[in-house]
Amino acid sequence: MEDSRIAIPIGTTLDRFIKSKEEEFQYATGELSQLLRDIALAGKVVNREINKAGLINIVGAIGTQNVQGEEQQKLDVLANIRFTRALTKGGEACAVISEEDDEIVDLNNDGKYVIAIDPLDGSSNIDVNVSIGTIFSIYRRVTPAGSPIQDIDVLQKGEEQVAAGYLLYGSSTMLVYTTGHGVNGFTYEPSLGEYFLSHADMSVPEDGNIYSVNEGSFKSFQEPVKAYIEYCKDNRYSGRYIGSLVADFHRNLLKGGIYIYPATAKDKNGKLRLMYECNALAFIVEQAGGLASTGKERILSVQPTELHQRVPLFIGSKKMVEKAISYFS
Ligand code: AHG
Ligand code: MN
Ligand code: MN
Repeated sequence: MEDSRIAIPIGTTLDRFIKSKEEEFQYATGELSQLLRDIALAGKVVNREINKAGLINIVGAIGTQNVQGEEQQKLDVLANIRFTRALTKGGEACAVISEEDDEIVDLNNDGKYVIAIDPLDGSSNIDVNVSIGTIFSIYRRVTPAGSPIQDIDVLQKGEEQVAAGYLLYGSSTMLVYTTGHGVNGFTYEPSLGEYFLSHADMSVPEDGNIYSVNEGSFKSFQEPVKAYIEYCKDNRYSGRYIGSLVADFHRNLLKGGIYIYPATAKDKNGKLRLMYECNALAFIVEQAGGLASTGKERILSVQPTELHQRVPLFIGSKKMVEKAISYFS
């Protein structure tokens, strides 16, 4: 199918943008659009909670409940509740799988879409006022609507995603997503409660000089990874590591760079989760012209075998990822 990529002006609202792109989607329905809107709305709610993070203990000290009368919860649990609730209300999703839930969560059985989500990424940064995010993937269910959800509906390869995106709660809040026709970024304007197109048709620089890896674990990396990190240092690359995957990924997407979470002696498949983190970002990075690999295999081609499966991740600028994985061969 030919990719039209009609130029839509900067400053267009998310709603208008979604509407004007509807015809690009192969299943000509408004359901995917509605799903994206539901996620964007839940993102606003989570954004509001995150902005109050520093106040939670103060509020908690006054009374243990928030304004809705709910117990104060850890933000990642709260974010999970917010997104799941938005998807339940919307009705388009038949199931959600989440980093915060052990099992598949069944939603509307007549829904056609399955959502995979990391409701709050970078949770170690919540209490220290550093950028965090939400990552999501959207798949079409495989079994007919109305029938019980099966493993094949949720354990789909990343290349089957129909849309993927992330919210970044940073110095400004952004929504970045793709439906397989390029990547677009929207900045949230809190006083208007609207997302506006700010980064149209994003592309990752083909090469870069930022490498992002937790070097504290260097000694437990495999030889090819150590050798590539030495190569980065020999070339005077800049080391940048926030410890929130979304934030590190977003910076590298804009500036050019590579993010690495490799296998370690302790974690043979690294730390990051295929279904909730790696697939979505891999889809986005490929749409932006970059690459995502386990070191040996394209992330989007990995056949998942379990919900919470982990994989090593090398993701970012094309030339940098190619160089890094060349050390494995
Ligand atoms: P989450 O907060 O969803 O559990 O994810 C944390 C992930 C990712 O965001 C980050 O890049 C990575 O963990 C950091 O891990 P290390 O502290 O091991 O570097
Ligand atoms: Mn995460
Ligand atoms: Mn998380």
